[in-house]
Amino acid sequence: WERPYGRPFRQRLLVVANRLPVSAVRRGEEMWSLEISAGGLVSALLGVKEFEARWIGWAGVNVPDEAGQKALTKALAEKRCIPVFLDEDIVHQYYNGYCNNILWPLFHYLGLPQEDRLATTRSFQSQFDAYKKANQMFADVVNEHYEEGDVVWCHDYHLMFLPKCLKEYNSKMKVGWFLHTPFPSSEIHRTLPSRSDLLRAVLAADLVGFHTYDYARHFVSACTRILGLEGTPEGVEDQGRLTRVAAFPIGIDSDRFIRALEVPQVQEHIKELKERFAGRKVMLGIDRLDMIKGIPQKILAFEKFLEENSTWRDKVVLLQIAVPTRTDVPEYQKLTSQVHEIVGRINGRFGTLTAVPIHHLDRSLDFHALCALYAVTDVALVTSLRDGMNLVSYEFVACQDAKKGVLILSEFAGAAQSLGAGAILVNPWNITEVASSIGQALNMSAEEREKRHRHNFTHVTTHTAQEWAETFVSELNDTVVEAQLRIRQ
Ligand code: G6P
Repeated sequence: WERPYGRPFRQRLLVVANRLPVSAVRRGEEMWSLEISAGGLVSALLGVKEFEARWIGWAGVNVPDEAGQKALTKALAEKRCIPVFLDEDIVHQYYNGYCNNILWPLFHYLGLPQEDRLATTRSFQSQFDAYKKANQMFADVVNEHYEEGDVVWCHDYHLMFLPKCLKEYNSKMKVGWFLHTPFPSSEIHRTLPSRSDLLRAVLAADLVGFHTYDYARHFVSACTRILGLEGTPEGVEDQGRLTRVAAFPIGIDSDRFIRALEVPQVQEHIKELKERFAGRKVMLGIDRLDMIKGIPQKILAFEKFLEENSTWRDKVVLLQIAVPTRTDVPEYQKLTSQVHEIVGRINGRFGTLTAVPIHHLDRSLDFHALCALYAVTDVALVTSLRDGMNLVSYEFVACQDAKKGVLILSEFAGAAQSLGAGAILVNPWNITEVASSIGQALNMSAEEREKRHRHNFTHVTTHTAQEWAETFVSELNDTVVEAQLRIRQ
C-alpha cells in the first residue's frame, strides 16, 4: 500500500532534539554505557508504530577524541540514535548561555538577563552566534542522514534556527518544528535582540506546532507585528508561501503508568509509603529544580496553610522532589540555596522531634518509585509560574484511579487548558489563594473528588502522547501535499 506521492507505508521520521533520549556515561576509552531516559517525547514516539523513528541530538557529554566519538556513535546506533558532538565552549555559549539563560527565561515571562547593559549586549551576540553555529551543526548531521521521503521533526527552543538551515540544504525536505515551552506574548518576544531572525528561521518550516492555541496565537501575532507578515487562520503567509501554525497538545503514555501500578515492586513500595505516612495526608510536588516551577512560592503557600490551620500541622506532609537541572547556569544555583533555606526555616518552625512537615529531595526518582509516590498522594501541587504543558499533572492523574486525589494546578501551565475542569486552578503568585486551595483539597468530599478525577482521567487516557505524535506527523505530511497542489494549480 502506498500513500500519495510515493510515500512508503513506514515512513522514516528523523526526530531532532537538543538532547538524545539516552544518557551516555564513559566507562573506558572506547566503552560507553547508555541509559534510556524515558521522557514524554521518548514514550510518545516509542508508541508510534506508523513511523520508523531515528533520533538526532546531543548525548549530553563532551567527547573530544575521535576514538571516543566513533565508539559512542556505534553504541548509539543500536538505539537508533545519531549523536551531534558539541565541544565545551559551544555547550557553554549555546546551551547554558543562549538557550537556558536567554530564551528559556524569556519564553517563561521572566525577561532578559539584567546584568550590565554593555556586557549583556556583547555576550548576547557571541551566544547568539554560538546558537546559530550549534543549529548548523545539527543541520549538517540531519543532512548527512536524510533520505528522500523522510519527515524531519525539530523540537524546542534550542533549535529554532534548524528549519532554516535544513531548507537551505534542501527546499523539498519536509520540516516540522514543535515548541515544548510557552511562546510568550509578542510584547515579550519583541524585547529579544534577535527576535526577527528567530521568527524567520522558524517560518522556514512547513508546519509549526505549539501545546496550546494561545501560544500559537502569540507566535502568529509576533510574525505579523514584528515582521509585518500576514496572519491567516491557517498560519503565516509570506509572499504566497504559507507556514502552517497550529496547536497540538501533548499527552503521556498513560498505559505505561497504569500498568506499572500492578508491578509487585511498585505495590510493595506503595505499602511501605502508606505505613511510613500513616495518619497523615500526603501532598506531593515533583519538579525539575527550575525557577519556572514556582517551588519557593509553593512552599511558602504550604507554610501559610500550616500557620492558619494548626489542627493540620501533624496530619499533613509535603514531599517535594526537586530534580537538579542545568546546574552550570548561575540562576539555577541560586534557586537551590533559596529553596533549602525556606525548607529549613519551615521545618524548624513546625517540625517536632518525630516528624517534619516538608521532606525535600534534590534528586530524581526511578520510574517505579515515582509511580508509587503518585499513587499514595492525596493532593498534588503543580504551581508553575509558567509551563509549556506540565506532564507531572498528567502522570499524577494516571496513577490515581484508586485514590482519586486532588490536583492543584497553576493556571499558567498549558495543562490548565485540558485538566482545568477537574483540578483546582490557582494563581501561583497568590500565596493566600494557594494556601486556601490546600485546605479545600484536603477537606474535599469523596463524591467531589471522584467527579473531578473522572473528568481528568478520561482526558489523560484518551489524549495520549502517541496520538499527539501521529497527529503532528500526519498533519505535516498533509501540509506538504497541499502546498505542492497549490503550486501546481
Ligand atoms: C524542558 C525542555 C526540554 C528539555 C527538558 C530538560 O522540558 O522543553 O527540551 O530537554 O526541559 O532540560 P535539559 O536542559 O536538561 O535538557
